[in-house]
Amino acid sequence: MTTNFHSRKNPSSRTTNMKILSIETSCDETAVSIVEASGGLEKPVFTILGSSLFSQIELHKEYGGVFPTLAKREHAKNLTPLLVKTLQEAKLLEYNTESKLPSDIATDTWTEIENILEKEHGLFEIFKTTLENISRPQVDVIAVTSGPGLEPALWVGISFARALLKLWDIPVIGVNHMEGHITSVLLKTEELKISIPPLLTSHVLPLASTSIQFPALALLISGGHTELVEIKTWGQYSIIGQTRDDAVGEAFDKVARLLGLPYPGGPEISRLAQTARQNQIPHTVTLPRPMIHSGDLDFSFSGLKTAVLYYIRDHGELSENDKLNIAREFEDAVVDVLLTKTKEALEQTGAQTLIIAGGVIANKKIKHEFGLLTHTYTDLTVLVPETTFSTDNSTMIASAGYIQVLLYPDLLTSQRQIIAEGNLAFPKSS
Ligand code: KG4
Ligand code: ZN
Repeated sequence: MTTNFHSRKNPSSRTTNMKILSIETSCDETAVSIVEASGGLEKPVFTILGSSLFSQIELHKEYGGVFPTLAKREHAKNLTPLLVKTLQEAKLLEYNTESKLPSDIATDTWTEIENILEKEHGLFEIFKTTLENISRPQVDVIAVTSGPGLEPALWVGISFARALLKLWDIPVIGVNHMEGHITSVLLKTEELKISIPPLLTSHVLPLASTSIQFPALALLISGGHTELVEIKTWGQYSIIGQTRDDAVGEAFDKVARLLGLPYPGGPEISRLAQTARQNQIPHTVTLPRPMIHSGDLDFSFSGLKTAVLYYIRDHGELSENDKLNIAREFEDAVVDVLLTKTKEALEQTGAQTLIIAGGVIANKKIKHEFGLLTHTYTDLTVLVPETTFSTDNSTMIASAGYIQVLLYPDLLTSQRQIIAEGNLAFPKSS
């Protein structure tokens, strides 16, 4: 690691170069990355040295959503093998030589690690048998998601990171998952530029060719969140609008379930909606645009789901065309509400950079419509993460961890206690 943290007062002039091991277990993805980060806050540069992810989606399908106990058990089972795979990919995996056998690790250390991992069923056994033969890798910091998310799931990642700190003496920092979604655009960015009509041309750009101007605005849309976040500068986030009930991804999932489609519902609804548009099926369904004229920046999606429920109840058995129609109208309603509120937020904040992140931005219709915004707002840059980094992943946790280290270098030297905070949230703007 080479650092230049001399300018303690001016974070933007700090630079460093470090290897970050990052861990994500907030929901149903278990992920580990090793990322080399360099540069300062104005142009951070990230190189992914290794990255492994196990998605539990197939396992949760039969429950129609994420089942926390199962998520916790799967994280505990998969973290250690994913770490080894990632170390190997990053060329940082070295086995202890005969002369440096596990006996070098004091029994006390193992007892402490056993205590740390006490609540994570089966994790200690696999951790010890695997890692006692592996040398400490050349990694400078461990970044682990500490919230928001499912607390039992978050704890597995945090305990695992604390066990690694004990074993390898590498500092650990806790990262806000939502900051991870925001900084995911620093990894590899797609700048949305749409040429009308209706061909979508989007360019994948490294951040070097674009730039984030502050204040920036982030629209975070995932299975658990729908938030408009004003970013004054790195590290200064405030919520200026959010959902009062269901998150937008949750609404996609629930409507999909009403239509008899599997979890996760977003891609399924999107597929039906696209078919409806392509085949120009006549419009037969009208759904509300909840809170579109509320005069604030908040959202509500549960009413939209209920409107679908009532439609189905009153309509009786649905034909294939009915399903296509519902999916298209639902997607259109979501787009209308998201666009209206985002435009209001752009006007309120004067932001010229809009970051859209979270799993729902995989939706082609939403991407397309937001790309068109650049025609109305000609100074606006719309950035979305590359698809791999839009759903939950650990590489985005490394990028947020790096921003934190640049802002607060002391994190590397004074170890703070990290706890799982299921409801961790940015402050609300006053
Ligand atoms: O960010 P994410 O991977 O996990 C959370 O932190 O929640 O987002 C998952 C959500 C799910 O609700 C899923 O249905 C939704 O993203 N999603 C989509 C699409 N792909 C995933 N929603 C709409 N259209 C899509 N193409
Ligand atoms: Zn997420």
